Amino acid sequence: MDKKLINRLIKRENEGTLRSLSFYIGMVDFFSNDYLGYASFVTPAYEGIHSGTGSRLISGNPPVAEACEQVIATHFNAEAALMFNSGYDANLGFFSSVPQKGDTIVYDALVHASIRDGIRLSLARSFSFKHNDLDDLRLKLKQASGTVYIAVEGVYSMTGDIAPLEALIELAEEVGAYIYLDEAHSAGVFGKNGSGLAVELGVEDKIFARLVTFGKAFGSHGASVLGTEQLRQYLVNFAHSFIYTTALPPENYQRIIAVLRDENLEKKRLALHQNIHVFHQKMGYLSHQATPIVMLKAESRNELIRKSAELKSGLVAIKPIFHPTVPEEFEGIRVSMHAFNSLEEIELLCAKISGLSPI
Ligand SMILES: Cc1ncc(COP(=O)(O)O)c(C=O)c1O
Repeated sequence: MDKKLINRLIKRENEGTLRSLSFYIGMVDFFSNDYLGYASFVTPAYEGIHSGTGSRLISGNPPVAEACEQVIATHFNAEAALMFNSGYDANLGFFSSVPQKGDTIVYDALVHASIRDGIRLSLARSFSFKHNDLDDLRLKLKQASGTVYIAVEGVYSMTGDIAPLEALIELAEEVGAYIYLDEAHSAGVFGKNGSGLAVELGVEDKIFARLVTFGKAFGSHGASVLGTEQLRQYLVNFAHSFIYTTALPPENYQRIIAVLRDENLEKKRLALHQNIHVFHQKMGYLSHQATPIVMLKAESRNELIRKSAELKSGLVAIKPIFHPTVPEEFEGIRVSMHAFNSLEEIELLCAKISGLSPI
C-alpha cells in the first residue's frame, strides 16, 4: 500500500484512535442503537424472493416496498416517504441532489458524517454553526445566499442532546429557509408509537424533510426521507444513492411494517423512558435531557481507553468514541440505554461509571 496511507494508520495508532473490529458477545448491551429491543423481534418468514434483484427503478420495486412507504408515511404523519438502503444513503442522496449550485446549506457542527458527506457531494455552499447555538446560526444565515437549507438532528447521536426545534423553525421561517431534520435517534424514542420529535412537538408540517431510520430503534434496516409527494418524486429522479443501487430485499419492508404495527411498540417506548429516568436519577444527571444517549467524558484519551477496557472486562459493552467521529472536545464513552435493560444491569453500569460525568 502507498506509504502515505500506511503513515495515516501509524498516526492513528500513535494517537490511540486506530479503529478496529471486535466482538462483544455475552455482555450487557449499553452500546447498541437497539433502543426498543426490536433487533430480536421475530416476524414470520417471508414467503417470496430474498433479494432486491435490482434498482427500485428497474426490478427492485415489489408491491410491498410501496405498501411499506405508505405505512411509514402514515406512522410519521408525512405526505410521502421514500425508502433508501440506509440512513447513510438517504442523507447522501438528499444533500447531494436537493441543494443546488448557488444555494446554501447551514448545518449544526455535530451533524452525522453522512450529512457531511452528502454536503461534500453538493455544489451548494455550506457553513457549520456551533452546536445547538441559535445565535451562531443567525450569524451564519446572514452569509447565506440562494435557497437555504438548515440541517439538524432530533437527538444528537454522540451527545444525546435535543435540537431546539421550535426555535429553529421560528428562525427558519424568519429567513425563509428549509429545515432538514435527521431523526435517526429520535424516531422510536419520541412521539406516540415512536413517531419522532417533530410529531411529538406537533411541528412536522413546518419541516421540509425528515429522515427516519429503521436500523436503530426499529430493529430492521433502511431509512426513509419524509416530505411531500413532489420531494419524493424529485429524489426518485435525482438522488443517486436511491437510483444506482440494488433495492432492499422485500422481507425488509415486511419487517418494518410488522414493527410499526406491533401493538407493544408504545409500551416498549415507555419502558425505555422509564429506564432513562432510573439511570439519570441514580447517576444524578438531572440536567441531562431524557434521551437514550449519554456521552461521558474523562480527563484524557488514555483514561477513556483504560475505562472502556475496564468496562469490557466487567462484561459491560460500551465503546469510547474519538476524533474524527466527533470533534476532540466531544470525545468520550457513549452509553445508550434500552427498553430491555434490567434494573440490575443499570445498577451494574452505574457502579462501573461512577466518577465520570456527561459532556
Ligand atoms: C444521526 C444519524 N444519521 C444517519 C445515520 C445513518 O443511518 P444508518 O445507520 O441507517 O445508515 C446515523 C447512523 O449512525 C446517525 O447517527
